[in-house]
Amino acid sequence: MSFQKGSKVWLQDKEYAWVEAEVIDARDKLLVVTTARRTKIMVGPEKLLPRDPDEDLGGVDDMTKLTYLNEPGVLYNLARRYALNEIYTYTGSILIAVNPFTKLPHLYNEHMMEQYKGVRFGELSPHIFAVADASYRAMMDEGRSQSILVSGESGAGKTETTKLIMRYLTYVGGKAAVDDRTVEQQVLESNPLLEAFGNAKTVRNDNSSRFGKFVEIQFDGSGRISGAAIRTYLLERSRVVKITDPERNYHCFYQLCASGKDAEKYNLGHPWSFHYLNQSKTYELDGISNAEEYLKTRRAMDIVGISLDNQEAIFRTLAAILHLGNIEFSPGKEHDSSIIKDSKSNFHLQVAANLFMCDPDLMVVTLCSRSIQTREGNIIKALDCAAAASNRDALAKTVYARLLVENINKSVGQDLDSKIQIGVLDIYGFECFENNR
Ligand SMILES: Nc1ncnc2c1ncn2[C@@H]1O[C@H](COP(=O)(O)OP(=O)(O)OP(=O)(O)O)[C@@H](O)[C@H]1O
Ligand SMILES: [Mg+2]
Repeated sequence: MSFQKGSKVWLQDKEYAWVEAEVIDARDKLLVVTTARRTKIMVGPEKLLPRDPDEDLGGVDDMTKLTYLNEPGVLYNLARRYALNEIYTYTGSILIAVNPFTKLPHLYNEHMMEQYKGVRFGELSPHIFAVADASYRAMMDEGRSQSILVSGESGAGKTETTKLIMRYLTYVGGKAAVDDRTVEQQVLESNPLLEAFGNAKTVRNDNSSRFGKFVEIQFDGSGRISGAAIRTYLLERSRVVKITDPERNYHCFYQLCASGKDAEKYNLGHPWSFHYLNQSKTYELDGISNAEEYLKTRRAMDIVGISLDNQEAIFRTLAAILHLGNIEFSPGKEHDSSIIKDSKSNFHLQVAANLFMCDPDLMVVTLCSRSIQTREGNIIKALDCAAAASNRDALAKTVYARLLVENINKSVGQDLDSKIQIGVLDIYGFECFENNR
């Protein structure tokens, strides 16, 4: 790219990434540019990128309309639109959303869904409903399944976006909801349920998904929702046993501790009394009541169709995990062996065994030893305290990971005859740290 005197350019900048500038002298290999702050700088052309000379102050709603589709042009366009509360922008058929971090109910109400229904993509302002509608129309017109991929870094808004897509699809493909247990309702209520068990507060996001989620919404030939399947991937298991301030463990633990009678039934108290929760001093979320969330989770379970017996079993298992985490070990008589530390640990052991419905003595053996298979038969090897503790944690993680989705998938009705479906993938947001532990 060659620049001349008078060229409008973007100049690389340490603080702002890019700043607006104009070339005022271009005789040598080095160019002289002035920035908006009137500083004159001499730079090589590799530090510059061309800037649109007649940019529209409001920005463009589709970035393929930009004269130069370069990084500063894209960022600047998004920033200008964001300043005008336009959080959505297209790049061709891709929708870019910039998280508003504030509720925008007018943007997502029923009136809005009606507006976007059946309207050609690109005709109205960029919107997530337009993407959902385009995939629904394509599915109906071509008789072919569609998929929507939602990606972005942690906290970018993937899960919220996925929920909006699901809301729109259940709106256009649903029947008038007369009762609570329609497939649409089940699909929608699977969200709070999955979030209770798969989301946690992280440094980036109070409701960060610690798993990937693929939702398949199935339709019949007339475009009505006939079933759904939900798959989850790669749950972050380590969080169950290890957390650091100001993060939290999975929401469901705090919900259960705040559940009043149910908590009492399982010998639970405040989260600070449990090792798996008190490693971080953060127990509450801004503006959210754990007790109310517990009721929402229970309600979601009802709607999704998890029987009361199964609900009870799920929460009993959660409580058992918390008690399990409070079992500590001290060195045993033999070298490199371990025993249950004290009466407090023994109490938690008894409660955990009772909730898991297993024999406490067998549980002690399981925690404090390891069986190794050899050709001559099984050898039982004692574990030292540290190994017994990691054995305990491994058990907690495995049990937790198995609680989550099987139950939900079994319950939400799948339509095995469905030929067309829309898949929505809300894939895990990765954090970028200087040092990744
Ligand atoms: N369209 C939106 N309108 C209003 N608020 C939003 C919107 N999208 C995101 N948010 C806000 O940002 C928060 C984080 O969004 P979300 O949980 O969807 O991020 P994510 O991309 O799924 O992150 P993670 O990868 O950590 O799961 C939400 O809890 C919500 O407060
Ligand atoms: Mg998420």
